[in-house]
Amino acid sequence: MADDPIPLFNLQTQYQALKPRLHQAVLEALDSNQWLLGPQTAQFEEEFAQLIGVKHCIACSSGASALQIALLAAGIGPGDEVITTPFTFIATSSSISLTGARFVFADIDPRTYNLDVQDAERKITKHTKAILPVHLYGYPANMEAIMHLANEHGLKVIEDCAQAHLAQADGVCVGGIGTAGAFSFYPSKNLGACGDAGCVTANDDDVAAKSRSLRHWGRAPDEAYEYICEGSTLRMDELQAAILRVKLPLLEQWTDARRKAAAWYEEGLTGVPVTLPPTPPAGWSQPFYFYTIRAERRDELMAYLRQHGIGCAVYYPVPLYSQPAYAHLQLDPQDYPHTQQACQEVLSLPMFPEITPEQVQRVCNTIRDFYEQDATV
Ligand SMILES: Cc1ncc(COP(=O)(O)O)c(C=O)c1O
Repeated sequence: MADDPIPLFNLQTQYQALKPRLHQAVLEALDSNQWLLGPQTAQFEEEFAQLIGVKHCIACSSGASALQIALLAAGIGPGDEVITTPFTFIATSSSISLTGARFVFADIDPRTYNLDVQDAERKITKHTKAILPVHLYGYPANMEAIMHLANEHGLKVIEDCAQAHLAQADGVCVGGIGTAGAFSFYPSKNLGACGDAGCVTANDDDVAAKSRSLRHWGRAPDEAYEYICEGSTLRMDELQAAILRVKLPLLEQWTDARRKAAAWYEEGLTGVPVTLPPTPPAGWSQPFYFYTIRAERRDELMAYLRQHGIGCAVYYPVPLYSQPAYAHLQLDPQDYPHTQQACQEVLSLPMFPEITPEQVQRVCNTIRDFYEQDATV
């Protein structure tokens, strides 16, 4: 009999385990007759801010809207340049463009897949106003070097934390290091809503106040018909906040389970000719949104794993500078050699808090078989 498939991620198990609590929370939120910016949202903001150790959390409609709000609140707009990575989801670059600013790509560090700070420095011009690092797969970007560079040049730093809930650099959670952070609570994220949701985090009172206004049409704090800027309808709703509040107390425990699974992978892949994710230095922690290896003959390995019922995927097969949306910019792939190579070699393996040691072992054995079979041909 064939083994059961192992999915890349598994939202069903979590949903089944939490079903009665989620149903109760949703019913209570419905019965409260408050749909937007009510008590669930306010409490979620307080709880999330406390968990990651940041002064303000502003609940938004998605990670993409949170990024756009954070950039606007930091004063980014037309004529400005924002340096970011091309090895990420398109929301990173599109949120820059949607503010009227221009993104400028720097290459990535081949080991961490995050922004190469030296290349970012080379891209600074008199128009540069901000750096937007992405903590890819959950691994924190080199925030010490980024903050140093930003301080030297008077730049804002907007952290894309969509994949990095509870990631820490030097003992501090990401989202609380730069000018502002943006988190996604897309359903498959480490903390996922039952629909779209996200938030801005900030320690700066002005950035937080501006973000609150921007998500709510630009409204003044206590004046129903006074607008201090142009915003839009970008708030989280009460139902999503109620759902997230059921899940939030479990986030640390889920994150520990992901880290355990990563340790099983590390052990199981010993001696297999693939490159494992980077090991974080002391004081850093990585919540493993994805467990991503680098592999030779990646596409063949991916097909082999899928044939054997193992879910896997490439994040990201096409770098942003090669996307049709940016063809008009005529960016040269040769300017980003490390991104080019990563797109051809990375492969994300099954990772979710409920994954068992046996499942991880089966994934590792199948990868080992793939390369051993090759060696015997
Ligand atoms: C790196 C990155 N940035 C931004 C986003 C956007 O988040 P959302 O889908 O909640 O808008 C995502 C979500 O997939 C992401 O992975």
